[in-house]
Amino acid sequence: MTQHTQFASGVATQALPSATVVLESRGLKKTYGRGEKSISVLADANLSLRQGEMVAIVAPSGAGKSTLLHLLAALDTPTSGTVYFATKAIGFLWQRHQLLPDFTAAENVAMPLLVRGENFASALGMARKWLAEVGLENRADHRAGELSGGEQQRVAIARALVTGPSVLLADEPTGDLDEQNAGAVFELLERLHRTHKLTSLIATHNLSLAARCDRILALEHGVLRTREAAATASGTPGGEAS
Ligand SMILES: Nc1ncnc2c1ncn2[C@@H]1O[C@H](COP(=O)(O)OP(=O)(O)OP(=O)(O)O)[C@@H](O)[C@H]1O
Ligand SMILES: [Mg+2]
Repeated sequence: MTQHTQFASGVATQALPSATVVLESRGLKKTYGRGEKSISVLADANLSLRQGEMVAIVAPSGAGKSTLLHLLAALDTPTSGTVYFATKAIGFLWQRHQLLPDFTAAENVAMPLLVRGENFASALGMARKWLAEVGLENRADHRAGELSGGEQQRVAIARALVTGPSVLLADEPTGDLDEQNAGAVFELLERLHRTHKLTSLIATHNLSLAARCDRILALEHGVLRTREAAATASGTPGGEAS
């Protein structure tokens, strides 16, 4: 690990406590709005994600899973607290896949490369390679809006990984899928996690899929606890076993 960056304002960069930690949050707090209408979503969320881990975050709807993932990916700023990361290469799989329906699957996957200035031919070539990896080479030239839900999610996975990130944050990647498709998409994520040596953090409602991860964290009342600690309500507030 060569570089640590953080997003909290006005605080000097600090070294992460462990050489294998690739993403960490400390004292993360997020409140939406002000005054009487304000909503406290994250109170003190602490997380240490170690290289190569596949970690699930489970919590009911509205508990703040998306909020937490957005903060970890620097897509939003915390009210207070700090996110540290050892790599800027983070892939993000959105809860709603947000493909552009009128563009082809290949064009959708190529988009992050085009945005960062790569030429069209090489971006499309890389996109096709990634579509093959997710089993959709024969759909590369189909418009995204014509694909099934499971296929669209595979395209979104290819798009999240096309830039070669080392960390993948996935926000309910199987949430809108039937059981069979959910299992298939989760298996794909497991395979990509292994073959590309990713570190993965997956928010999910699906406990049986979560159980296939290396560990499970529950987001409860704005803090993260190991799943076992959550079940017995004996976890230390704000502390996750790391
Ligand atoms: N931009 C925002 N402004 C105000 N409130 C928000 C905003 N984004 C989220 N919230 C509120 O924060 C809470 C947590 O939302 P979040 O989307 O993080 O939950 P979630 O755990 O991802 O839920 P789900 O499982 O339904 O996706 C909710 O009460 C939501 O209404
Ligand atoms: Mg969500």
